[in-house]
Amino acid sequence: MAFTEQIEVRRLDPAELQEQLDRLARVLADCVAGGASVSYMAPFSHEDARRAFEGFAAEAELGRRLVLPAFDVGELVGTVQVIVSLPPNQPHRGEIAKLLVHRSARGRGVARRLMERAEDEARAEGKTLLVLDAVTGGDAARLYDRMGWTTVGVIPAYALYPDGRPCDTTVFWKSLSP
Ligand SMILES: CC(C)(COP(=O)(O)OP(=O)(O)OC[C@H]1O[C@@H](n2cnc3c(N)ncnc32)[C@H](O)[C@@H]1OP(=O)(O)O)[C@@H](O)C(=O)NCCC(=O)NCCS
Repeated sequence: MAFTEQIEVRRLDPAELQEQLDRLARVLADCVAGGASVSYMAPFSHEDARRAFEGFAAEAELGRRLVLPAFDVGELVGTVQVIVSLPPNQPHRGEIAKLLVHRSARGRGVARRLMERAEDEARAEGKTLLVLDAVTGGDAARLYDRMGWTTVGVIPAYALYPDGRPCDTTVFWKSLSP
C-alpha cells in the first residue's frame, strides 16, 4: 500500500476537534520549531500552540472555518484550515490557512492530500474561488504551483520567520468553478 493511501483526511465535528487539540498543537509547535513562518515567533511552546488551536476551534464551532486533520494510522500528522466566513460581498470566496505537516511525516504527500480535501470541502461549502499566501520559493509554494494555483505576485518582507528574519510572501488564487 502506498503511504498516501493510509493517510486519512476528514472534517471533525466540534467535540472531536476538542479531543484533538493537543495533537493539532503538537504539529503546529513542531512546524514553528522547524522555522516555519506561519504567524508565530520563537519561543513558541506547546501551550502557545494549544491556545492558537483553541481559538481556531472556537471559530470552527461558529461555522467560520473548517479544521481538517490528516491521520496516519490514527496518528495526527498534519492539518489545514479553510476560512469560509468572509465579508458579505465575497460569499463565493474562501481562504486556505495553516497547512502544517509534522517534520517526521513530510515528503510523502500528506500536504497534497490535505489540500485536495480542503478544495473539496470548500466546493461543498459553495466556494468557487480560493486564495492563500506562502513563503516565496518554499516547500508550500512549490506544492501550490504543482496543484494548479495561479501566482498573483510576491510581496517583499511581508512577514517574519520565527527567529525574526523577514521573508517574502507569494499570493496565490485558484478557481474551483467547473
Ligand atoms: C509545506 C508542507 C506543508 C509540505 O508538507 P509535505 O507533506 O511534506 O508535502 P508533500 O509531501 O505533499 O510534498 C512535499 C515534497 O514531497 C514530495 N513527495 C510527495 N509525495 C512523495 C512520495 N510519495 N515520495 C517521494 N516524494 C514525495 C513532493 O513532490 C514534494 O517535493 P518538493 O518539495 O521537492 O516539491 C510542510 O513542509 C510544512 O508543514 N512546512 C511548515 C509549515 C508551512 O510552511 N506551511 C505552509 C504555510 S503556507
